[in-house]
Amino acid sequence: MVNMDYHWMPFTENKAFKADPQLIVKADGVHYWDDKGNAILDGSSGLFTTPAGHCRPEITEAVSRQLATLDYTPHFLRASPASFELAEALSQLTPNGLDRIFFTNSGSESVETAIKIVYAYWHAKGQGNRQRLVSRERAYHGVNLGGVALSGMVKNREIFGNNGPSVVHMRHTWSETQRFEGGQPREGVELADDLLRAIDNYGAGSIGACFVEPIAGSTGVLVPPKGYLQRLRQICDAHGILLVFDEVITGFGRTGQPFASDTFGVTPDIITLAKALTNGAQPMGAVAVKTEIYDTIIDAAASGAPEFFHGYTYSAHPAATAAALATLKLYRDDGLFERAQSLAPLFQEAMMSLKDLEIITDVRGFGLLAGFDLAPEQRPGKRGFELQKDLFEAGLHIKTTGDAGIVAPAFISSPDEIDQMVSILRKTLKRY
Ligand SMILES: Cc1ncc(COP(=O)(O)O)c(C=O)c1O
Repeated sequence: MVNMDYHWMPFTENKAFKADPQLIVKADGVHYWDDKGNAILDGSSGLFTTPAGHCRPEITEAVSRQLATLDYTPHFLRASPASFELAEALSQLTPNGLDRIFFTNSGSESVETAIKIVYAYWHAKGQGNRQRLVSRERAYHGVNLGGVALSGMVKNREIFGNNGPSVVHMRHTWSETQRFEGGQPREGVELADDLLRAIDNYGAGSIGACFVEPIAGSTGVLVPPKGYLQRLRQICDAHGILLVFDEVITGFGRTGQPFASDTFGVTPDIITLAKALTNGAQPMGAVAVKTEIYDTIIDAAASGAPEFFHGYTYSAHPAATAAALATLKLYRDDGLFERAQSLAPLFQEAMMSLKDLEIITDVRGFGLLAGFDLAPEQRPGKRGFELQKDLFEAGLHIKTTGDAGIVAPAFISSPDEIDQMVSILRKTLKRY
């Protein structure tokens, strides 16, 4: 038995886990295996990281070849050709105009980088006062202090002080009228006008950007009401505010198109990415920005020094770059985004079939992403915690946040495997 004393596990009740651990020792396709040899269906594509399925040889071999040839390049003042190749490949996939790519190692770093790009952009334009940011309740933008300030999750914020950027929160987009509605809610477009209220209160000239997840993922899959993202875009345009989409979960086909920006027909100024960029095989994130933003920052800087004082030792690490190049090729060659789109109706219908269970108080979703709410017990979060543990025992891994469950199958899942996921969910939920 492995000694568990030393690893301080992230986002985990360490005592409870270590008293009764659920270990994963192997993965292949849409399955994990635990240390007792049981197969477990992966109902959340890792942590939304692995839509092409686990242990794809195309990615493993590319990383292995890369590590044997060039294991590390310093990207401050040096570079390897592969990072430029990847940036070009990514820019061909990102919405038109978002063609300049900054590499990071995670979603949290992508969000921090985006915040700094916003500051640098307004500084370069002589409007350095635009330091205030707008985001939303029930948002998750990672765990670094800027992202925590943007986020709208009480436990992630309450003991970490007020040292981040100054942020105004719009209301989240979930309401009672949306229960079991399916797809994009018909009501709620007016919630975008909360951005106008922030403008009225603080002045457009003090606001640099509005950050939203097109679909709020980690807090239980809140799908934007029809017209909501369009309205945000209009307000940002009218007041010169940058619009940032955090597509760390929704990027790379989760909504059936490369990005949720494509699916919902709204082009932001900046997109933050991570997770599925490497199919989860290596840590990597990226920030895609409009060329005008890049040009503004680069052109305003004095020569003889970096234009943007920001970067990570592992920005565009060769192994991650190789993994990302192989992943993008796999998505293209196997038509995986199209596959996600064609599986989505079946998946959403299967998830909605759970609505007859008394314990389920809502089911929501879009593409290959769905959330459901459990009626809470005395203490919020207790049921969600128990459910993910019981599901694992029953052969299904999913993510829970509080009393919400989040299901996000790999794009390579068969209709049969989706049925199996939902049937394990039903069987387990029936016991509650
Ligand atoms: C929308 C969003 N932004 C940022 C992050 C943070 O990403 P990471 O955990 O890679 O730092 C996440 C993680 O789930 C996310 O869903």
